[in-house]
Amino acid sequence: MTVMKKISVVGFGKIGQAVVANILDHDIHVSAVDINPDLKRIFESGQYVSNEPGLSDSLNKSFGKGLLQITDDFSAVQGSQAIIVAIPLLVDKQKNILDEPFLDCFKKLAPFLSDNVLIVIETSIPVGYGRNTVVPAIESMGKKHGTDFLLVHSPERIKSGSMLKQLLVTPKVIGGVSKEATEKAYEIYQWFFNRDLIHIVDSIEAAEMVKLAGMAYRDVNIALSNQLAQFAQRINVNFADLIPLINTDGEAYLLQPGIGVGGHCTPVYPYFLINNFRNAGMDFVLASESRVINDEMAKHAVSLISNRVNHKKALILGLSFRPNIKEDTFSTTYLLRDALIQDGFEVMLHDTEFSMDDIKRKGFNPVADIYSSGAEAVFVVTIHEQYKNIDYSKLASSGVRFLLDGRNGLDKVAAEAAGISYTGIGR
Ligand SMILES: NC(=O)c1ccc[n+]([C@@H]2O[C@H](COP(=O)([O-])OP(=O)(O)OC[C@H]3O[C@@H](n4cnc5c(N)ncnc54)[C@H](O)[C@@H]3O)[C@@H](O)[C@H]2O)c1
Repeated sequence: MTVMKKISVVGFGKIGQAVVANILDHDIHVSAVDINPDLKRIFESGQYVSNEPGLSDSLNKSFGKGLLQITDDFSAVQGSQAIIVAIPLLVDKQKNILDEPFLDCFKKLAPFLSDNVLIVIETSIPVGYGRNTVVPAIESMGKKHGTDFLLVHSPERIKSGSMLKQLLVTPKVIGGVSKEATEKAYEIYQWFFNRDLIHIVDSIEAAEMVKLAGMAYRDVNIALSNQLAQFAQRINVNFADLIPLINTDGEAYLLQPGIGVGGHCTPVYPYFLINNFRNAGMDFVLASESRVINDEMAKHAVSLISNRVNHKKALILGLSFRPNIKEDTFSTTYLLRDALIQDGFEVMLHDTEFSMDDIKRKGFNPVADIYSSGAEAVFVVTIHEQYKNIDYSKLASSGVRFLLDGRNGLDKVAAEAAGISYTGIGR
């Protein structure tokens, strides 16, 4: 008798939905379990849409065919050969890990674990967290690793914007608590990943390190660029435009400087490693300093404009931490707003992805039209598509005299031709 292939995915958010779509593409049944009870109703009423290319079509089609079950009932994981967990491990404002909401999910799963069912954590977690925190949490519920369940980590390294495409090319790293766990994951992941894409590492700790090291690298790289940019600006060297040239030496891969680093990954995961170092009696100075340098870029940006304006009225463009997406987790805009207010500015915000009401709810003063804000200085945090076509003459006519381009991506020549003083970060 052939056994029906079934995978459960716990956490049906941005990552969970992409992971599910990829699995469904391989004619495998999926149960998507999420504490949000509205998700099922949204699919049933045909109202589900996603900005992620290809996702709406794929998920709506599979839901219609009955291949995809959506539920808030954790018992739905029964009968699955694997349970993939894609719920966030949240941190507080000080970036301390909030264990309970994350572990609660595993405690809810525990009653339904048997016969060494595979659990895969795709969420980014600190090194050692799978073996030392998640396994004990499940075992505290009376289930045993190696008897009832097997745990592996496979960090999800795709980013919103083209997730389904990235899933086809991004190497899938897998490391388990035991050899048996890793081998089971290797077998099951081949159901929905090309075998050549799957990379087995020695342990769950090694897999945990892969994602975190990548994030720390990115943050440190940007911090280096930010410091060099500040020095270059002091001596009148256009550093940002030099970066492509610097990178032609075959070894440098310097990223652009900028007004700050936002999102739920890069500004957060270095702290996981910083804590890991601390627990090992070491000090991850490079990552700690980089976090401070990058978070202080908002203040630096304000200092570049502050003494030049007649009226301290500023318009921020962009709340999203990445262009053309509606996501503001740890967005630099919050740091910039605080820095501007501390400097005595009145602050307004415009974002093409967020409605006026959304912006108000986030605690900002929204403007409907960037050409009638009355601001003298415009600070750009996110270059959404629409901001690439700013009419600088119209902006200048509305009283804007200074443009701080926090992403070095706007048209300096056009802004200056319209009489607006342009300042980038190291540009
Ligand atoms: N979004 C990205 O670009 C991205 C990229 C790479 C990796 N990741 C990783 O994926 C994780 C999830 O990110 P996301 O963007 O999908 O988050 P998200 O907020 O879009 O989705 C999380 C989903 O999990 C559900 N959920 C929360 N707690 C739950 C619980 N206890 N049980 C069941 N469901 C629960 C929520 O209702 C939500 O639908 C991140 O923490 C990160 O580690 C995200």
